[in-house]
Parts: sequence; structure tokens; C-alpha cells
Amino acid sequence: MATQPPTLPARLEMRNISISFAGFQALDHVDFSLHGGSIHALIGANGAGKSTLMAILSGTHERYQGNITINDETVHIHTPRQAKQLGIHLVQQEVDIALVPTLTVGENIMLDHLAQAGQLCHWPQLYRQANALLAQLQVHIDVRQRIERCTLAEKQHILLARALSHHCRFLILDEPTAPLDQQESERLFAVTRRLRDEGIGVVFISHRIHELAEICDRLTVLRDGRQVSDGAMAGLNGGQIIEKMLGHSLDAIFPPPRPPAGQEILLRVEGLHDQALLRDISLTLRKGEILGIAGLAGAGKTELCKALFGASPAKISHGELLGRPWRPGPPHMAVRQGLALVPEERRKEGIFIHEAIPMNLSVSADNTFSRWGWFNAGKARRWAQNIVDRLGVRSAGLDQKLQRLSGGNQQKVAIGKWLRGHASVLIFDEPTKGVDIKAKQDLFVLIDGLARQGKGIIYASGEFAELLGLCDRICIMWDGRIVAQVDAHATDEQTLLLYSTGGTLP
Ligand SMILES: Nc1ncnc2c1ncn2[C@@H]1O[C@H](COP(=O)(O)OP(=O)(O)OP(=O)(O)O)[C@@H](O)[C@H]1O
Ligand SMILES: [Mg+2]
Repeated sequence: MATQPPTLPARLEMRNISISFAGFQALDHVDFSLHGGSIHALIGANGAGKSTLMAILSGTHERYQGNITINDETVHIHTPRQAKQLGIHLVQQEVDIALVPTLTVGENIMLDHLAQAGQLCHWPQLYRQANALLAQLQVHIDVRQRIERCTLAEKQHILLARALSHHCRFLILDEPTAPLDQQESERLFAVTRRLRDEGIGVVFISHRIHELAEICDRLTVLRDGRQVSDGAMAGLNGGQIIEKMLGHSLDAIFPPPRPPAGQEILLRVEGLHDQALLRDISLTLRKGEILGIAGLAGAGKTELCKALFGASPAKISHGELLGRPWRPGPPHMAVRQGLALVPEERRKEGIFIHEAIPMNLSVSADNTFSRWGWFNAGKARRWAQNIVDRLGVRSAGLDQKLQRLSGGNQQKVAIGKWLRGHASVLIFDEPTKGVDIKAKQDLFVLIDGLARQGKGIIYASGEFAELLGLCDRICIMWDGRIVAQVDAHATDEQTLLLYSTGGTLP
């Protein structure tokens, strides 16, 4: 095992890279160069081809056209093993796919070494090495605990540690900050900068435009499978980056102010508890209101969303939904009572990965496509096309299986399926995670439109700027409780951060 970084930074060039899938041109003569000792932003809208380009570099696609060199020597990358031997490591977008849930943290970190044929494993040494790698990242996770018990942020660090368990010259981070909150992101930035200073070339993919300038020194932009811009990051502001990405500017990200919500209360919750984290949560949601739930990772936002939808057990002392006594029931009841949930881990909970787009968009349990037991496929397709257009889902066609869509486009489908139906209270858990800036704007318009129609929206997010731009009121969670409630128009990001770290105003 070589944990020592190389002394001389290497230079990697991808030239004229093209790949197509069943006639769909995902990458079209793309050039990309990566230098050791730099952090290189790779950006583009959902489906632009970022993950595909990096999949080629890390050996996932056997067949592609083009040429790859390292220090001017042609290299052949057609398997993940070849990529790793060249010192190229990928921490992929969907962290769960790369982890083995039944193994421990230490085993997952050292997985590639475990899998080497003919080698006997020395367990105490394995755990020592795993611990040393985590220490290098300055994170503390019990290496003997099962992976299942780890948070998304911890899983991210485990994959980083796995990459560092090899000789690593190039490190690809595909949306590493999507599951992280602000503080966790800062910690990841510190680690990334250290790796850069040690001579590693880092590719950094992210839809959070504001963080690109903070951490990256170079920038390559993909649009519809083509490279449209390449150069230094210095001097570019957020607006210019967005323009390079979309080909046009985007002025107002948030919808104009809504009229104040009415007095009619759609949902009232008093004294909600669960067995693990949530304590004494009370909230009210009015007709036409967007209620934000702010908090850092681990504060309990997801637990609260799930508890309200009945997806995890919880008790309340008093509750009302649409004027009737209510307590959280199982999800199928919740749907019938008029609740909807777009869950955070959509890939695991919100979509059918092996089904095509119309099927995914029509399964929202309200039966609007079925009559007398017949499923109206034509109607479902028309509806699907409508959502695909409204949210700009980029795919090879409606019949593409969800599994083959880019991360952000899967997200849009998961959200789209709730935009029809009779739900009066819609709960969104981190809906903008992994979606591009244009899709965020489209989503805000849609959510704002739902509120204007008189629905009530619960919007949980760690993106404080988005909460301020979209919500009427914001409840801030810390350690399983709501510690403050503020008027979104009369507060700022600093205040939200203060409350969400357990602080109080003087
Ligand atoms: N194995 C595959 N089969 C068919 N189509 C594919 C396959 N892999 C990628 N694609 C298509 O190629 C395009 C580019 O996808 P890719 O995942 O690279 O996008 P991305 O830029 O990473 O987007 P995101 O920001 O949403 O993660 C998408 O339209 C996707 O559907
Ligand atoms: Mg991607």
C-alpha cells in the first residue's frame, strides 16, 4: 500500500473523447486536461456528460473514442483496474453503490486490498491502516462499525480514504458536497486543498456554483456532451459561470413574492417525538404557505419529514390535518389523507430504477391514470412528456430506464411524480440536491405555483440561501428539536447558521 503522494505532479490529457449509447451521443469530441497540484472544476447542466467523461477516465466504459495521455505518454484505460494502476481514483456520485453495506467501515476502506487474490488478511493491521487513512483526512469514524450506520458525509470520507489507500495521482470527486452541509463541506475543502498541495490533481464536480470559485483554480464546462469552455477560474463570478454552463444568463433564481398565506391551517402538529432523535416538535402549516425546515446534517430534518409522512414511527400529543384530528399513519394512509413526500435519498426510496420515465411519473398512488382497472398508457405518456419538458429532463427518450439517466435527471423525475395528484400538503426533503441551476429555478417556479394554488409546502433544506429565497417562515432544527422559528423575509443566512449550530441571539 502506498499512501505517500507522488513527488512530481503529473499531467493528464483527454483528447477528442466521444461515446454514444444506443445512438445517443453522450460525449462529442471532448478535450479535458488535468494537472497535478490543481483542483479542476468540471461543470455543466444535468445530463451534460460530466459523470460519463469521468467514468471513461476511471475505466468504467470499455468502448469510447479518443486518446488519453499522462505526461505525454498514451495510456490505455478500459477497466477500473487499469485506471487505478495509473493512480486515477473516483469517488462517485452515488456513494452507496460503491460501498458494501454488510461490511465494516475498515473493510470498506481497504476493500480493494481485501479482494486481492491469494492474500491472507491480517485484520488488526487492516484496521490500523484504515484508521491511519481516516486520520490523514482528520475524520473520526469507528472503523469496526457497520457501514449501514454511517451518515452520507461519513460514507463520502470512507470512499476518500479508500482512494488514498492506493497510490493516488488523480482524484475525481463527483458531486462530493451534495450530501454535505456547510460545515462538512468546509472540512472536505480543507482535505481537498491538502491533497492538491501534495501534488494530486483533483476533479471537482458540483452544482453549487458559489463553492466552485472558493475551491477550484481551473474550470471546464460541458454542454450537451460538448466542451464549451476551458480556462482559469480566477476572475469569474457566479453569473459568468452560469452563462458558460447554460449558454445564456439567468437573472431571477427565485419567484417573485407571493401574497401572504391565509389564516386557514392545513396541518397542525404538537409534541411530536420519535424513538431516536426528534423531541417535542410543534409546527403549523397554513394554506398557500411554504414552511422551511432549516438545519445542518444530522439535525433531524429528514427524520421529521419521514415522521410526518408516516415513513418512520413517531408519536404526537395533538394533530390536525385539513381540519380533522390526525396522527401520522403509514405512508399509504398518508397519501390518502392528502400528504406527499419527496424523500431525500430518492434513488433508494423515491424511484423505480429499472422502469422507464412514464411509469415512474405515473406511480403516485392517486390512480389518475387508471379507470375501471385499466391503465391509460397514452395519458401517462402525455403527462410524462409534459413533466420532462417543464423540468428539462435530459434523456435519450421517454423509454429510457431511470438507471440510465444522469443523477440530476433521476432527481427531477422523482420530484415530477408528485406534481399531479390531490395532495394538499407536500413535503420536500432537500429537493435541489444534485439538480442544476436552471432546474432549480424551474423547481422553485413549480413549488411556488403549488403554494399559489393553495397547497401547503414543507421544504427541508440545508441550503440556507434557498430557504430564504423561497419560504414564508422557517423553523430551525438542532439536535432533533425546533430551536427557533423566523419570518423568512426578516432574517439572514448568519442567523439561520447561528440557530442551527445550537446558538441563540444575544
Ligand atoms: N449507460 C448509459 N446508457 C444510456 N445513456 C447513458 C448512459 N450513461 C449516461 N447516459 C446518458 O448520457 C448523458 C450524460 O449523463 P451523465 O451522467 O454523464 O450526466 P452528468 O453531466 O453527470 O449529469 P448530472 O449533473 O445530472 O449528474 C445523459 O443523458 C445520460 O442519460
Ligand atoms: Mg453526474
